[in-house]
Amino acid sequence: MNETLERWGSKRAFILAMTGAAVGLGNIWRFPYIAGENGGAAFLLLYVGFVLLLGIPVMMAEILIGRAGRQSPMRSLASLARANGASPRWRYLGLFGALTVFCILSFYSVVSGWSIEFLVASVNGNFDGQSPEAIGASFNAFLANPGLLVFNHSLFLFITMTVVAAGVSKGLERLNNVLMPLLYLLLLVLAGYGATTAGFEETLRWLFLPSFAALDATVVFHAMGHAFFTLAVGACALMAYGAYMPEEQSLTRAAFAVAVLDILVALLAGIAIFSIVFAQGLDPSEGPGLMFVTLPIAFAELPYGSLWLCGFFLLLLLATWTSAINLAEPMVATLTGLGWRRSLSTAAVALGVWLVGVLAALSFSTLAEFRPLLGRNVFELLSSIPPDVFLPLGGLLIAIFAAWVLPEAHAAKALGAGTRGFRLWRATLRFVSIPLTVVVLIGGVLAL
Ligand code: PHE
Ligand code: NA
Repeated sequence: MNETLERWGSKRAFILAMTGAAVGLGNIWRFPYIAGENGGAAFLLLYVGFVLLLGIPVMMAEILIGRAGRQSPMRSLASLARANGASPRWRYLGLFGALTVFCILSFYSVVSGWSIEFLVASVNGNFDGQSPEAIGASFNAFLANPGLLVFNHSLFLFITMTVVAAGVSKGLERLNNVLMPLLYLLLLVLAGYGATTAGFEETLRWLFLPSFAALDATVVFHAMGHAFFTLAVGACALMAYGAYMPEEQSLTRAAFAVAVLDILVALLAGIAIFSIVFAQGLDPSEGPGLMFVTLPIAFAELPYGSLWLCGFFLLLLLATWTSAINLAEPMVATLTGLGWRRSLSTAAVALGVWLVGVLAALSFSTLAEFRPLLGRNVFELLSSIPPDVFLPLGGLLIAIFAAWVLPEAHAAKALGAGTRGFRLWRATLRFVSIPLTVVVLIGGVLAL
């Protein structure tokens, strides 16, 4: 009896840990603004398609490699490759993953800092009785304040790296398990509020009635990148988790559960935010500020608005925090794997991310016109290239490794699905996920 209970406990813990990595800014902040910039419904449809055809199979591949290797990503890849007659150079895939999460965390921490600022502002009641115009203006004024942006970024990163250094992320995860359902509930209330606004009908049309007139390679490319980003797939971050996954747990079920929850959270956020956008006549392609200017407007209309808003930003920060820890862990693990002490590794990662994050934070003021590549400033580069290019590239290599390098018997056993399920999964990887990623990636990069 006890044993069954314990197993169930660890299976559940595994799903919740993956959910912690998946649900974050990607769902609530990034999805609405990227969908807004890419035309709405057609983007949503493509993104859900990519989650099913690429996200889930590659997520399974990534976790499977971790579970089969039972070591850090670099070591798992090297030893599995060697055992199967492939080059141990596959270990560099783990290094590439570490580079990817480095870039992502640098801008993730800056945006999380915005949430800290908004939490403080709502505690102070700064949004009370403010007009939509005033809320938008105060957000822009905030972005133009380099000191404040750098301070909040530093604070968020410090809190994150402290948890990583102390190795207490398990405790935070437990706290999250209790509190995340509250965040979902709050989003449900907001979406419900959205349904009462004048913008609701247009929101539904805009989110669910695709028009393919404006569809081009770039929209498809962004939808693919977002599918990887929101599921946290392609950076070997989930591989590290796989190493702790119970042998008898179904990978298929875990991956589907996380993906479905992740989509639902994004949809609720999208409905809530676009209802305000259309009710207030705002611009859906407003950009990274979209969530920050719409939600205070929505909450201002609800009774006890400031209180709701505080709760919302507090819960959002918690969700972000667990994702950030998941972004930091693989880098720290890579350095400790190279023989560095844990404290030193954590400090080095923190310093590197902090520096690049400062450049990202200054991209809204001092460094706005510093555009080193593709005519984009540092924030624009970090928030687009790693999700759109690095994650799909990493995911592609992970898929190739799982579908072509790992021997069938090995993978079938590790997958823990029936033979039919295994064949379907591997065929999807080989004949759908891999070619699809290659084509979309090439099309997107050529259009950059
Ligand atoms: N999936 C996270 C989010 O949606 C971001 C993330 C990407 C986390 C990659 C880990 C690795 O916010
Ligand atoms: Na997500």
